[in-house]
Amino acid sequence: MTDIFADIARSTAEALGRLGVETSAEEIKRLMQLPAKPGFGQFAVPLFGFTKTLCQPPPVVAGKVADTISCPATVQKIEAVGGFLNFWEQPGIIAAEVLPKIVHMRDRYAAADEGMGQVVVMDYSHPNIAKPFGVGHLRSTVIGNSLYRVLEKLSYKPVAINHLGDWGTQFGKLIYAFRQWGSEEQLSVQPIRALYDLYVRVHEEAKYNPELEEHGRAEFKKLEDGDPDNRALWQRFRDLSLQEFNRIYARLGVGFDSYAGEAFYNEHLGPLIKRLQETGLAHESENALVMEFDDPQLPAFVVRKADDASLYATRDLAAAEYRYKTYHFSRALYIVGSAQALYFRQLFAALKKMGYAWADHMEHIEFGWVKFGTEIMSTRKGTVVFLDDVIEQAVQRTKDIIAEKNPELPNVDEVAEQVGTGAVVFSQIAVRRNKDIVFSFEDVLNFDGHTGPFLQYNHARLCSLLRKYGRPVETDIDCAVLADPEETRLALLLHEYPRMVQTVAETCEPMTLAAYLIELVDLYSSYYHRVRIMTDDESLTRARMLLSAAIREVLRDGLYLLGLAAPEQM
Ligand code: ARG
Repeated sequence: MTDIFADIARSTAEALGRLGVETSAEEIKRLMQLPAKPGFGQFAVPLFGFTKTLCQPPPVVAGKVADTISCPATVQKIEAVGGFLNFWEQPGIIAAEVLPKIVHMRDRYAAADEGMGQVVVMDYSHPNIAKPFGVGHLRSTVIGNSLYRVLEKLSYKPVAINHLGDWGTQFGKLIYAFRQWGSEEQLSVQPIRALYDLYVRVHEEAKYNPELEEHGRAEFKKLEDGDPDNRALWQRFRDLSLQEFNRIYARLGVGFDSYAGEAFYNEHLGPLIKRLQETGLAHESENALVMEFDDPQLPAFVVRKADDASLYATRDLAAAEYRYKTYHFSRALYIVGSAQALYFRQLFAALKKMGYAWADHMEHIEFGWVKFGTEIMSTRKGTVVFLDDVIEQAVQRTKDIIAEKNPELPNVDEVAEQVGTGAVVFSQIAVRRNKDIVFSFEDVLNFDGHTGPFLQYNHARLCSLLRKYGRPVETDIDCAVLADPEETRLALLLHEYPRMVQTVAETCEPMTLAAYLIELVDLYSSYYHRVRIMTDDESLTRARMLLSAAIREVLRDGLYLLGLAAPEQM
């Protein structure tokens, strides 16, 4: 099959070449874009990057290229506007190129082998043991899961690591609090809530009773020294917490390749600290051990506290060394909120200082706050919103909506679970990472708004259309009948899909894919309401069904890449 976009890119590169500009068909193909407004062709090539060599303004260059280009026969019209070359294809050409391909390849349509042989280590979700899985960790989980699926699609080997917060002085306090006020009974009924109540209580009482700090430190010291009772209690807390987290992961369709949390690196810490000291990379400062950086904007990095206790930071240094040794990653992503931006700059600088060139391939994939109404989630203050409750409420409300809209639906429970969780997941991914999220059930469950349920609903409607059609969709047909501008635009959007997936992998911004699917579905909806898909004209019906089937495939795959299920009926 020929690739009309490659053909046009080649013609454009050749025309530029004749004008004395050095470029390639690949470069032009990368530049091709869909014009934002109608009337500027079906796709465009911006020529702004090539004007320097020619010492001429962009419109002049575009005009010269338009005059001299020898276009493939499928091009109907070409126009130079500003610095752009705008192309119009004959009706159906683009559709004929992409629709059969999508329907044949299905979920392999966007697949590529660009990542072959490259490991990407991903650190996400990482909730803290003995604390509820808060909405704050949800965003990391959802972004991480989506990027994992995208990277897999492009043949990278992602490794999902759940760097559980399962170590630190707070466990000393918790052990003390449990022996003081806790009970086996509470622990067996609602483990996380019981542990969380103890956590809040011990922090509250410590404000008035400084002795509690002492007790906590002593218990933690015993834990670090391997005291069997404390160790066993800690293990219980960890197991119970993980059980509860896994219930949530199962609902969200999220899994991990490793649960090596902070405690996993305990044995590495002593030797690491010794090495840092002996090589002079770290030095004593007020009894603590710190690393300092040349960059005056980076504060010193504390790797051992004055009381000898190890730190979050030390465990991250050990984790990075371990991960490189174990996985030889070509990229390592830390999907963690922006609050830790400075910390990750220090961490990467520390690894650089230790001489690790691979520190250049580590990235902090940051994101903003998640707010419920006006409240920022914080476990410390006890203002946490339990994710479990959020999901449960979303599913219940979905059930009510379905009961109203489609009371006949057979498997209501299953669909409500998929749509309720889908609404929660989509809310975390539809917003650019650097923006905060204000979560409200009304917004995320609005079937007519730009939500997860909206995409899922449109997918189900396409499935129902295909069921009604009742025959297999044919791919070997004449697409020239798809002459409507919206049909061409839909075909062009579908053509963009693989590139969209690649962009997500590069920028680690799944929001662009979410926005893309919204655009696709919005356009199809307006088209669907304006024209009849199944008409009296057999060849037109066939072509429109092919278009609809291709959109269904891309929508289903896109939903999967975002981490949402795609029910066939709802
Ligand atoms: N558990 C930490 C928190 O809740 C996040 C861990 C991020 N990962 C890392 N390797 N530091 O803040």
